[in-house]
Amino acid sequence: MTKAMFSQNLRFLPAPFALNDHLLDSQHDGLFECLNALSKLSGDSADYLCNEIMSDLTGKMAQHFDYEEALMKKIGLKGELFDEHVAAHTAIMDEISHIHLTSISGGYGASSKLAPKVSAWVLSHIMKFDLGLKPLIEEANRKN
Ligand SMILES: [Fe+2]
Ligand SMILES: [Fe+2]
Repeated sequence: MTKAMFSQNLRFLPAPFALNDHLLDSQHDGLFECLNALSKLSGDSADYLCNEIMSDLTGKMAQHFDYEEALMKKIGLKGELFDEHVAAHTAIMDEISHIHLTSISGGYGASSKLAPKVSAWVLSHIMKFDLGLKPLIEEANRKN
């Protein structure tokens, strides 16, 4: 992953990240919209806004993981692949709530430090886990 990918506008996911499930792709886009907003925070209201965005991001992530896991079942992902993917979602939710709580209590002087870290996780999760769903999603799309 190059640095350029993190600094570009992440409002719309680059084409290689599209999984060809409309809701899933728009949810991924929504996560990057939050991350983009997080990366642009500066000034006096940054910490307050950081909390707002982190709440929004946490909610969107929970909703997204629920949908993605239901989709995984629907397209026939089973066994270890399913379990490991769900475990990765749980780990991200745990991390994100830990970070959110830390930022609420003022533990992060600069909220701007959060954005690259969280973006990196989300991107690496999508690359390591979500992209593997694409062939199954496309197969299910063809059958419908
Ligand atoms: Fe995932
Ligand atoms: Fe995902």
